[in-house]
Amino acid sequence: MKTYKIALLKGDGIGPEIVESAVRVLEAVGKKRNISFVFTPYLIGGSAIDSCGEPLPKATIEGCLQADSVLLGAVGGPKWDTLPGHLRPEKALLGIRAAMGLFTNLRPAKLYPALKGECPLREDIVAKGFDMTIVRELTGGIYFGERGYREGKYGEEAYDTESYSRMEIERIVRVAFETARKRRKKLTSIDKANVLETSRLWRKIVHEIAEEYPDVEVADMLVDNAAMQLVRNPSQFDVVVTSNMFGDILSDEASQITGSIGMLPSASLSQGKRGLYEPIHGSAPDIAGQNKANPIATVLSAAMMLLYAFDEEEASEDIVKAVDKVLELGLRTADLAHGAPALGTKEMTDKIIENL
Ligand code: IPM
Ligand code: MG
Repeated sequence: MKTYKIALLKGDGIGPEIVESAVRVLEAVGKKRNISFVFTPYLIGGSAIDSCGEPLPKATIEGCLQADSVLLGAVGGPKWDTLPGHLRPEKALLGIRAAMGLFTNLRPAKLYPALKGECPLREDIVAKGFDMTIVRELTGGIYFGERGYREGKYGEEAYDTESYSRMEIERIVRVAFETARKRRKKLTSIDKANVLETSRLWRKIVHEIAEEYPDVEVADMLVDNAAMQLVRNPSQFDVVVTSNMFGDILSDEASQITGSIGMLPSASLSQGKRGLYEPIHGSAPDIAGQNKANPIATVLSAAMMLLYAFDEEEASEDIVKAVDKVLELGLRTADLAHGAPALGTKEMTDKIIENL
């Protein structure tokens, strides 16, 4: 029997509940497919600040680097919102991404046939459906650039800077072309090249690398236009590649047209390592501890882990199919139920396990 060591970063808010769901689903699918998992929890985010005074303890970084893969819930909450930037829970997320070298963030967003009614777009747009993957650069750009406070012409001033090296752009763009090659061979690179130098370098490199992938159709799109096109005609997108900041924003937009941000998983990868898997949503402190959260994004993140980190294609597919099935059965958590009676986090997890 194969055994995988998984570091669990439950985090804050709904984090512990949704990670618990994914763990139960992994154990169930492991039983079916003869795979075993050893889960080791580590502190991150607000809960780490509370118990050891820092959002990303050394032991957490070491645990993640030693594990075969990492499953993360979510971090942050109002309790820690007034702390200085370097002590905020979100800093831990950026810290672990950097420490593990996770420069690629894959965020698939598709419209489930069963959730067509949840898509806020017009019927004729919904009818066309959509299925895209956002390839977001995750360890560079304005998230990691030089920042600070200074005295300016008009007094106190704050600044953040965006910078991208050729190496950083080349490696993420290559991942995007490879991803496109395995899908519909259509890549949209999103930038703000009419204003930003980083975007102009980005665009130049995209077209250099495009020469190595003559089978992939590539187009540039400005980010403001992309935000509009996403709600005008999302079916035009297949693989999208973009910077850290633009990817953050566009992936939230993409999630909402799938019906709920509670549906979107993600995989954060580095070259040749096994990565970190997390839902794209946050810690939802307003519903934390109430058994109300939608566990599907985290459960699907676990499915991505099985596929990308461990090559356990069948087990991954089992989970994806079980999620499809519960949705087709009309089972919904509160985020998708419009006030109608809904399943709790635990009950939804039970149903997914039943359908494995
Ligand atoms: C995400 C989140 C994070 C990000 C925050 C919590 C730092 O919004 O993973 O999309 O901006 O990357
Ligand atoms: Mg985000």
